[in-house]
This record gives sequence, C-alpha cells and structure tokens, in this order.
Amino acid sequence: MRAIGYTGGRPLDDPNAFVAFEQDTPVPMGRDLLIRIEAVSVNPVDFKVREGIAVPQDPPRILGWDAAGVVEAVGDQVELFQPGARVFYAGDITRAGSDATHQLVDERIVGQHPKNLGFVEAAALPLTAITAWEALFSRLKIDPEADAGKRILIIGGAGGVGSIAIQLAKSVAGMEIIATASREESQAWCASLGADHTIDHFEDMAAQLKQKGIGAPDYILCLSHADQHFLTTVNLIAPQGMICSIVGTKQKHDLDLLKSKSAGFVWEFMFTRSMYQTADMIEQHRLLNEIARLLEEGEIRTTLKQLLGPVSVENVREAHRLLEQGHCVGKLVLEGFE
Ligand SMILES: NC(=O)c1ccc[n+]([C@@H]2O[C@H](COP(=O)([O-])OP(=O)(O)OC[C@H]3O[C@@H](n4cnc5c(N)ncnc54)[C@H](OP(=O)(O)O)[C@@H]3O)[C@@H](O)[C@H]2O)c1
Repeated sequence: MRAIGYTGGRPLDDPNAFVAFEQDTPVPMGRDLLIRIEAVSVNPVDFKVREGIAVPQDPPRILGWDAAGVVEAVGDQVELFQPGARVFYAGDITRAGSDATHQLVDERIVGQHPKNLGFVEAAALPLTAITAWEALFSRLKIDPEADAGKRILIIGGAGGVGSIAIQLAKSVAGMEIIATASREESQAWCASLGADHTIDHFEDMAAQLKQKGIGAPDYILCLSHADQHFLTTVNLIAPQGMICSIVGTKQKHDLDLLKSKSAGFVWEFMFTRSMYQTADMIEQHRLLNEIARLLEEGEIRTTLKQLLGPVSVENVREAHRLLEQGHCVGKLVLEGFE
C-alpha cells in the first residue's frame, strides 16, 4: 500500500515534514476490515496529532481519520460487512490513519456508505457526524421528542462539526438553533444549514442575544475556543441546562459557577469508544448508518465545501495549513491517491 506520513519533529513548511512511502498492505484479523480508501477528509485532530509528534518517526506516522471507501477483505470474526461493501468511517486515533490507499478499521466503528452520495461527499462526514451525534444525543442527552422546540447555542457553527450539528439539531430534534459565526460567509452557511439565528463569537454574545430578544439557551455546544467562551456559556445557560464542550481547555475553570443553576457540563471525545474499546463501540456503526439514512432521505446534506485534489504530500500539507488558520467553512476533502 501507499501512504503519506509525517516524519516527526519538523514544522509544517519543512519540505520533508510529509513523505510519500510504501509498506506491506496489512491483513485483516478478528473484527477488522481492510478498506481501499477512495476519499478522505481532514480535521483539526490531524494537525494536533502532528504537532504532538516531537521525535522522528520510522516508518512515518500516517495521519487522517475520516474516509470513505470499499471493503477489500475481512477478518475471521467480521459480521457486519462483506468484501465489496461501500463504507464510511472515522477510524481509531491509536491506529494508522487514512492518508493512504488502504487502512484497517474495526467494523464496529464503520457505517454503510450513504447510497445517494459519491465517496467525496460521504468522506466529508464521518468524524464530525459521530462527534455531533454523540454530543447532542449521548452527552447532552437531547431527546428528539421531549426537547423539540428547545433552544441550543452552537459555538463555532460553520466549522466541520458545527455544519453537521446544526443539521442534526434541526432535522432530528426540531430545536431552535443559535449558531455563532464571525463572517458573512460563515453566517450565511450556518443559516443555509438550518440555524434560526446567528451571532458573532468575537462580540458580546449575551448582548447580541438580548438585542435579538432571544432567551437563555437550554443547551450549549462549544465547538471552539473553550477557554475564551467558558464564562459566557456559564452566564448564558438556562437554569437546569447542559453545556457540552468538544474542545479542551488550557486554563482552570470553576464548575461551581454552574451550581446555583443546577446546570451540567460534559465532554465529548469521539475517539473515546475506540480508544477504550468500550462495550458499546458498535453504537458508532449504528449512528453512522442512521446518518446515512438521514442523507438518503434528504433530511440532512453533505458538509463538503472544498475538494483539494488527490492525497499527496502537497495537498495534505495544504489541508493542514488551511485548518490551522481556524476559519474553514464546512469540510475539506481529498479524493484518490496521487
Ligand atoms: N472532541 C472531539 O471528539 C472532537 C471532534 C472533532 C473536532 N474536535 C475539535 O473541535 C474543534 C472544531 O472542529 P471543526 O472540525 O469544527 O473545526 P473547523 O472546521 O476548523 O472550525 C472552523 C470554525 O471555527 C470557527 N471559529 C474560529 N475561531 C472561533 C472562536 N474564537 N470561537 C468560536 N468559533 C470560532 C470559525 O468561524 P468563523 O470563521 O466564522 O470565525 C470556523 O467556521 C477543533 O478544535 C477540533 O480539534 C473535537
């Protein structure tokens, strides 16, 4: 198989930071699928993992955890897929990534490819859709029936995760959605996906809500800059509300500030299930199949925004560069392998 890997300990603009290399195609065992990758998406986790690799890697570390492709071979305990099946998945951060022609992935975290989409449109979705689904329905425990009409504030609405979170909160749970976005393009994108209101995360959010006559959000989903927004979310959340963050913090924050409101705070990390091999790992297979069904029925749409070309040293570098700027709208995808 061929892959693009990070050589370790080099800045992004070092010409040798990424290299193309070959290695033996792995043989699937147990519940693993060997997947031939057709398209991959890039996420901030790619550059965060890259930045954490300080020492030279041999072989180079294959990054990227978001792909669509075809099952080429299966392990002896595989139950859910057969060779030839089209699939989409995010994978497991403790294993080799998807910037390659082939990858091994546990079938319990793989979904059936949406029938109405091509590989490029489908590859845009798995990592962000798993994150948004788990945040909304597993961590915030939003009940699509009981919580219809309730209000959610989604901070960082136009990014990869926000783009699918807005759609799921609207189409699955019928919520009133306030999305944050700081530019005309990102605000328009949020509105096109179903946000009822947009406010700017670089301005006073409480003042903007007041000015628009919008009451306290019952739920807050923080998808960006959790340190910057912590106090705002604590002040804004409705009594008995819930806040979920998918981004970590560098500063210490005081959870006691939520006590008088009996409000809760919870984390979402979409690699938890595969990293800890939790007993309910297969929930990611189920939720990806549900995402595929929603796409096929036209309830939600792909979040693909930009196709950068094939997986190559230059295109992977460019994708990292664009993501590091922190102002992507929707998703960047690479198709095929150069
Ligand atoms: N825990 C998990 O499982 C998990 C999963 C996926 C992602 N993540 C993390 O979640 C974050 C978002 O991921 P993503 O894929 O959505 O990233 P992304 O696509 O790169 O997000 C870009 C968006 O962030 C917005 N943004 C920039 N500065 C902001 C600020 N100060 N406050 C609020 N929003 C701001 C931008 O909006 P404007 O251009 O309008 O300013 C832009 O639309 C990343 O840190 C990523 O590593 C965590």
